Amino acid sequence: MKTITTSAPGKLMLFGEHAVVYNRPCIVTAVNERMYATIELLDSSGFELQAPDVNVVDYKKQIRELGNGDIPKGAKFVEIAVKNFFENYHVTQGVKITTKSDFSSRFGFGSSSASTVCVIKALSEVFELNLSNKDIFDISYKTVLDIQGKGSGFDMAAAVYGGTLYFVTGGKVIETLNISSLPLIVGYSGVKADTVTLINSVKELSVANPQVVEGIYNSIEILVNKAKEEVLKENWEQVGSLMQENQKLLHALGVSIQKLDDMISSTSNAGGYGAKLSGAGGGDCMIALAPTDKTTEVNKGIADAGGVVLTVTTNAKGVKIES
Ligand code: MEV
Repeated sequence: MKTITTSAPGKLMLFGEHAVVYNRPCIVTAVNERMYATIELLDSSGFELQAPDVNVVDYKKQIRELGNGDIPKGAKFVEIAVKNFFENYHVTQGVKITTKSDFSSRFGFGSSSASTVCVIKALSEVFELNLSNKDIFDISYKTVLDIQGKGSGFDMAAAVYGGTLYFVTGGKVIETLNISSLPLIVGYSGVKADTVTLINSVKELSVANPQVVEGIYNSIEILVNKAKEEVLKENWEQVGSLMQENQKLLHALGVSIQKLDDMISSTSNAGGYGAKLSGAGGGDCMIALAPTDKTTEVNKGIADAGGVVLTVTTNAKGVKIES
């Protein structure tokens, strides 16, 4: 029986979070912490999922039941992705899916988006449909909207295309920024954040103060466009100072927390070029840029503020077939 294994990278948001949900651009880089999906065709019309990293073991249902009933949290993205794929391409043959992760889902690197994308790529291969990257992105983005109701899709784009991308809401623009390296330092706060809760809190703020929040989104848009130019020039000092500006605007949106603020100021005091939270806020990770001769001090700054330095490779390859 035919078996395919694919992998897709996680992501880190560099600039533009929250504003990108509302028709603004962002910059995201793919990180080489990958999710893997193996798909086997079955003789039945059943769906089977093994995702032990997220506590899903021996999860089975009929294909016509996909999306119905109580779905375990760890199975949601894969199940809805499979449902969308099957409906779109009129497939009815059963599949067994096994997913495996290089990284913990708690870091906020986008394990749900990476697993969605590698499952769709593997389905495309196993059913010989030869989907383009844009087809894979579109089905993945529909999956996010079906589950969360909101979201820009930037994480799905990073998982599909890899590299470092300039991205506008829903994939209206997906542009690869050709850079040779991205010397990022990543600090994990140890606090778990929930993206949907944070998107909703920003939404509440914008209902109460529409002009203020629109103004912040417009400032973020201008800043992201400047950052794009500086990233392309690999002018890290300037990119770092734009990170500081972006952090102030995220602070004004109310999504930073004391722990992240402490980690960020500690890296700046240690000689970094600049730092900001990365992603929805409320916890997860912060990122910093620093001159190479200050890396040790900046790493120490993160640890002194109670964070954990994570070693990640950025600008990683997008979804691919492993075997
Ligand atoms: C979450 O990592 C980033 C947000 O901008 C949400 C999104 O873009 O989907 C807050």
